[in-house]
Amino acid sequence: MPGFFSQDFIDDLRNRVNIVDFIREYLVLKKQGQNYIGLCPFHAEKTPSFVVSPHKQIYHCFGCGKGGNVYSFLMEKDGLSFPEAVVQLANRCGVPIPQDELSPDKLRQNSLRERYYHINELSANFFQKMLYEPKGKRALQYLQNRGLAEQTCKLFQLGFAPDSWDQLCSFLLQNKVTEKELITLGLAVKSQKGTLVDRFRNRLMFPITNASGKIIGFGGRVLDDTQPKYLNSPETPLFSKGKHLYGLNLARGSIRNKEQAILMEGYMDVITAHQHGVTQAVGTLGTALTEEQCKLLMRYTYNVVTCFDADTAGQKATKRGLDLLQQLGLKVAVMTIPEGEDPDEFLKNQGYEEFQKALLQAYPVFEYNLLKLMEKYNRDDISGKIQIIQELVPDLYRVQSPVKRQGYIQMLAERLSFSEQAIYAEIRKFQTGQSFNNREQSTKNTVQRKKDTVTAADTAQRVLIRLVLETPEILLEVEKAGGKELFSNDLYQEIYQTNYLLSQAGHNIKVEDLVTHLENEEARQVLTEILLSDELLKEGKRIYQDCLTTLEIELLNRKIEEKNILMTQSEKNGDVTKSLKIMAEVQVLIKERQSLLSTLKKGGGNLEG
Ligand code: CTP
Ligand code: MN
Repeated sequence: MPGFFSQDFIDDLRNRVNIVDFIREYLVLKKQGQNYIGLCPFHAEKTPSFVVSPHKQIYHCFGCGKGGNVYSFLMEKDGLSFPEAVVQLANRCGVPIPQDELSPDKLRQNSLRERYYHINELSANFFQKMLYEPKGKRALQYLQNRGLAEQTCKLFQLGFAPDSWDQLCSFLLQNKVTEKELITLGLAVKSQKGTLVDRFRNRLMFPITNASGKIIGFGGRVLDDTQPKYLNSPETPLFSKGKHLYGLNLARGSIRNKEQAILMEGYMDVITAHQHGVTQAVGTLGTALTEEQCKLLMRYTYNVVTCFDADTAGQKATKRGLDLLQQLGLKVAVMTIPEGEDPDEFLKNQGYEEFQKALLQAYPVFEYNLLKLMEKYNRDDISGKIQIIQELVPDLYRVQSPVKRQGYIQMLAERLSFSEQAIYAEIRKFQTGQSFNNREQSTKNTVQRKKDTVTAADTAQRVLIRLVLETPEILLEVEKAGGKELFSNDLYQEIYQTNYLLSQAGHNIKVEDLVTHLENEEARQVLTEILLSDELLKEGKRIYQDCLTTLEIELLNRKIEEKNILMTQSEKNGDVTKSLKIMAEVQVLIKERQSLLSTLKKGGGNLEG
């Protein structure tokens, strides 16, 4: 994140606002001890778990895990990028952004991006103008036939690429756009003769924007049945397939207000949805939902309803997308629409009321999967039943609420006339295999991490991070004991290492500014949580030495395990010398571990106690 503006500017600007006053403009905060507490603006809750610290100038929600400083708050709340948040805050504080605040490299990149946006904007205007000229008559007629109102076409900046080889090119070249830029932006292609020709010809044009409404690419549809039906911008410095959501700039406010997003597949689905008042709709543009798209959505809501086409391709997309959304911790429901229709046709044929009804009847994922499996397998037949249960076990395992899980098991038992015990047994079997396979991956996911029992080692790592941040004197000692290696969780490692590198570089940074330096949102959230969990500090100082020792022991354990694997390998390969050498190394490590263990016992400070 840093690099765009100078760090001094970013920190000074942040220092001008008091986070408590700032957040108060968005929600009610009550004083509680040293901190302030309120209802979290990022998820629905009835009892406050959103804590703001005036001393550290950070916030953290102990309900949903969101946390950060003023910049993260602005990014989260208004859906801004980091540079956008800086500019926004500067504007609010009436601080001018000095031009020399932009590093030369970024300035170049920045102005280049702005230039690309500008060229796309010029192109969109060109296409839009063409739609209302005589040669665009057929396209305009087409849009009218598909039921789009003039206002809707304007809102989505729809246009028409005329049936000509170079009309856009010559228009842009006249406007001082270079040939190179035309190609870079995917607006033109080199023909075999080496001349430049328009990429989009005789097509209805859909500009694709980013969340702030800047045009990053285009989709073009034929007016008849020619193939390909849609032609999209290629990968460009502004546009990457699978990284954006169509219509998000128009939908984001509504997604926040309605606390819900509806995911659709196509351009026309989203446009028709908005015309009918379903303004929380966004489009994946025909690709299978990607992690980037999910994360983009998570900036606005955790509540997603998928509304994909009823055809088989749509169903496949649904299954993959659902898994992904769930893995990321979003609440997902599936809206089904009649066979052979897509959301666009459904809305046009049945109208808003019927759509709303179908939306209310959207299935929670588990029920949807059960439904699909019952269609697929014969549940009157024992092997069919077993198949259904086995395919549902991973889903059941993922259901996080015990009450819900119990409910689903009951439902499943009833529908398949199977005993609940048998289903429980299947889940346990799956669980055993799962915990064995996923031992190493489990730290990757925050949701998972939170659910994991907090082990002594985990507490020790959190205490240590807190202490290193608040008492920089111990940094050297921790570094000597193993530094980053002491942490087994990659988020902890990232926090520790970022802080270490900054202090190595001579920065005397405040904890609240460390938040700005963490690129990874999950790491930021973990950091604010650690900084605001005061029980960590209360005990922390007393048990610091034990924490460090515990983590050194853990690190030795990991090293010993690695060596043991190496030893087995060299034994298998018949390399006796090597295996003896490793054995000797292991002995040394074990001795080291024993001596650490004995200091731990003598010290008596027990982490869990
Ligand atoms: N798509 C694409 N290229 C294609 C076909 C489809 O990029 N050759 C993408 C488009 O974003 C399209 C979406 O996939 O909107 C869904 O495809 P499809 O269901 O075939 O099109 P519709 O959106 O229903 O388009 P229309 O109603 O205009 O036929
Ligand atoms: Mn369609």
